[in-house]
Amino acid sequence: TASTEPSSNIITDNSFVKGLAESSTLQSIPSQFTFANDSRGSHSDSIPIIDFSLLTSPDPDQRAKLLQDLDKACREWGFFVLVNHGIPETLMKSIIDASLEYFELPEEDKLRYKAKSPSDPIKSGSGSVITTANHKIHLWRDFVKSYVHPEFHCPDKPQILRDIVYEFSEKYRSLLRKLLQAIGENLGLEEGYIDEALKLDSCFQLYAANFYPPCPQPDQAIGIPAHTDHGLLTFLIHNGVAGLQIQHDGEWFDTNSPQNSILVNTADHLEIFSNGRYKSVKHRAVVNSQATRISVVMANGAAPDAIVGPAGPLVDRDGRAFYRPMKFIEYVETMLSNTVDGKGNLECLK
Ligand code: SIN
Ligand code: FE2
Repeated sequence: TASTEPSSNIITDNSFVKGLAESSTLQSIPSQFTFANDSRGSHSDSIPIIDFSLLTSPDPDQRAKLLQDLDKACREWGFFVLVNHGIPETLMKSIIDASLEYFELPEEDKLRYKAKSPSDPIKSGSGSVITTANHKIHLWRDFVKSYVHPEFHCPDKPQILRDIVYEFSEKYRSLLRKLLQAIGENLGLEEGYIDEALKLDSCFQLYAANFYPPCPQPDQAIGIPAHTDHGLLTFLIHNGVAGLQIQHDGEWFDTNSPQNSILVNTADHLEIFSNGRYKSVKHRAVVNSQATRISVVMANGAAPDAIVGPAGPLVDRDGRAFYRPMKFIEYVETMLSNTVDGKGNLECLK
């Protein structure tokens, strides 16, 4: 019958997955979504938890232990769950709610932000990737992305989104600088070295919200395939529905996070800057058949015009640079226009 037949052309570049998922007749996913998932993650143990409050502990032993744990998390996992970070729970909830409100807008409001060029400061839609096997796969996810620092851009609806995203970007910048200061200490760099080298006063921030509606065949679709992030550290929160998986020791790990925590991952520019000490971690978003998942992500990078390469003192220590320097924003825009799944973005820098 018409209702169960997978349609091959429901989805176009103007489509949102939300509308498709809500159509009452949808029992299987349209063929364009079919994605050959490799092993589903099933591990969830021992993801490092970092207690941010210990960074300012008056007890030097506690602080030293925190720095050690942070170094180990960056080196071995590229990923940690940040707790006691000081961002109010109410604000975290309000950015999730406001992001959800955005996705609930009529499609014509969201279509205003359909991407025309990788450098558009606000983009929204769903989208596809080309797999290494040269198949075009539509992703089970709608998104909105906007550049929020050093220049602030934000969709103008819903009205509250703007203030909340602004406040968030400020709070996250302060968190970023404190974490990077600790990371600098761990890398044996002088205080202020990272700030200056990467021009953190004008650090680049990209707000992204992802909407993953329930999927009738979650094992055969994907929200976002395996990738690494541009930038230094990515901060991610979500609405309590699991879906983020990270790669560790060649296996996929489910991430579950205590309420009010922030998931942090090391990204490409920290790998470059640390001359390979901290690897950019591969992760992906899987979907489920039960509940809508929302994630709110802030990618935090260097200043758009900063030239990011391995830190000088580390190159001296290592005897050579393992990556070549590149202007930060050029890398980001190359990456945003690169839709090939599985292609390492760092390859072009080696
Ligand atoms: C992302 O990698 O950008 C988002 C992953 C997620 O939604 O958990
Ligand atoms: Fe990501």
